[in-house]
Amino acid sequence: MDEKTISSESKAFSYGLNVIEGSEPLVAEYIRGELGNQRSQLKLIASENYASPAVLLAMGNWFSDKYAEGTPGHRFYAGCEFVDKVETLACEHAKELFGAHHVYVQPHSGIDANLVAFWSLLAYRVEVPFLESHASKHVNDLTDEDWATLRKAFGEQRMIGMSLDAGGHLTHGFRPNISGKLFDQRSYGVDSETERLDYDAIRNLAEEFRPLVIVAGYSAHPRKVNFAKMREIADSVDASLMVDMAHFAGLVAGKVFTGDFDPIPHAHIVTSTTHKSLRGPRGGIVLSNDSDLAEHIDKGCPMVLGGPLANVMAAKAVAFAEAKTESFRSYAQQVVENANALAEGIEKRGGRLVTGGTDNHLVLVDVRSFGLTGRQAESALEDSGVIVNRNSVPFDPNGAWYTSGIRLGTPALTSVGMDCDDMDDIAEIICSTLEATEPSTTTSGELSKAKFNLSDVIRSDNRTRCAELLDQNPLYPEVGMP
Ligand SMILES: Cc1ncc(COP(=O)(O)O)c(C=O)c1O
Repeated sequence: MDEKTISSESKAFSYGLNVIEGSEPLVAEYIRGELGNQRSQLKLIASENYASPAVLLAMGNWFSDKYAEGTPGHRFYAGCEFVDKVETLACEHAKELFGAHHVYVQPHSGIDANLVAFWSLLAYRVEVPFLESHASKHVNDLTDEDWATLRKAFGEQRMIGMSLDAGGHLTHGFRPNISGKLFDQRSYGVDSETERLDYDAIRNLAEEFRPLVIVAGYSAHPRKVNFAKMREIADSVDASLMVDMAHFAGLVAGKVFTGDFDPIPHAHIVTSTTHKSLRGPRGGIVLSNDSDLAEHIDKGCPMVLGGPLANVMAAKAVAFAEAKTESFRSYAQQVVENANALAEGIEKRGGRLVTGGTDNHLVLVDVRSFGLTGRQAESALEDSGVIVNRNSVPFDPNGAWYTSGIRLGTPALTSVGMDCDDMDDIAEIICSTLEATEPSTTTSGELSKAKFNLSDVIRSDNRTRCAELLDQNPLYPEVGMP
């Protein structure tokens, strides 16, 4: 091919890989392999996406070499002129994008963003009043005895969050995560009939348990949350409302979730990942309109975070700039339309949908309607070329390992340009695979929860159909084969 007709993206990745090849050829081989794999799979993982080449390239450079503990203009290291500029730029873009007064772009991931939020709330609500009541300005001024009392007070705080089987996240106060070891947590679920949030039940729980923090947000709930109502509940018990919008940040940025469904004006503090529906680099952010919290949020590093990744903050700045465009708004709208089309396509072919449908980017299918566990459905679909993850459904009898559901998300396939017609084709691929899958029988004659038999003909047909869809909507066409 003529050098002039090769795109800049193609050249950038292929020259980059040539350089890597000079140091460790296997890494270049694995990077190429990963692209090949991603190009051969129909990705319906609700928490994944494809970032733009500009976002990916912004991560691979000398910003990675710089230490920059602190915040712009207040670093513990010299030589941070351009790190300051890039962090400030990312913050300014995010503030404008989300309409937030304060944004902290240093968290390395969603879990880290949540940790920053929890400790900011504990600092503001527990540490500051304690220091004031002991006429101290800093924790280092406290006696050992007073310090022990304050440490005990941290461990006595309460939180409520959405239960795991209803779609909540481990970081919302569950015992395997540090949030559950730190807070005494109770969870709210969904209504057993509608499978939607029951705000009266949440209010009752809050009034009974009197938490310091109420967490809203989810990993696997296919409906919007009314954050105005959640704030009302929080105010009524003097709790702080924290919203984890990791999954749906792209829909907030793209103005699909507005008014009562936009968390920024209602929550005391909002956390997010940047790599899911927002289509940025892997990372986290914390946002707040509460001026009392800002100074505590900015202490995230070194309180709970390692030194900021300036290269990732650069990529966040690129992603936020992209998310401010009209084309990102159309993208976000299409993500939701595609989820709706996928839901309709599955329901009309006999699949039961949790809550009966979706109004965000994800669809939760109860695969008991096909006589399967989530584990069997996930594996049978992978064999057919469709990548999904198994997921609990509300009140799941199969537990968190086998589960009764699969979670499907449309952000990634919408990024490659798929539309509602494609979603109907995908619904057909999914349902025909699940119809053609049967649980195997164990040696003791019971139905297995993991093993299954899938018709070879259907598997092979569906693999071909997936390949056709991917050919029509190629991933990173501007990059070629680097
Ligand atoms: C709601 C929610 N919060 C936090 C996280 C954690 O994000 P990360 O994997 O970036 O730490 C996730 C990721 O799955 C999530 O769904």
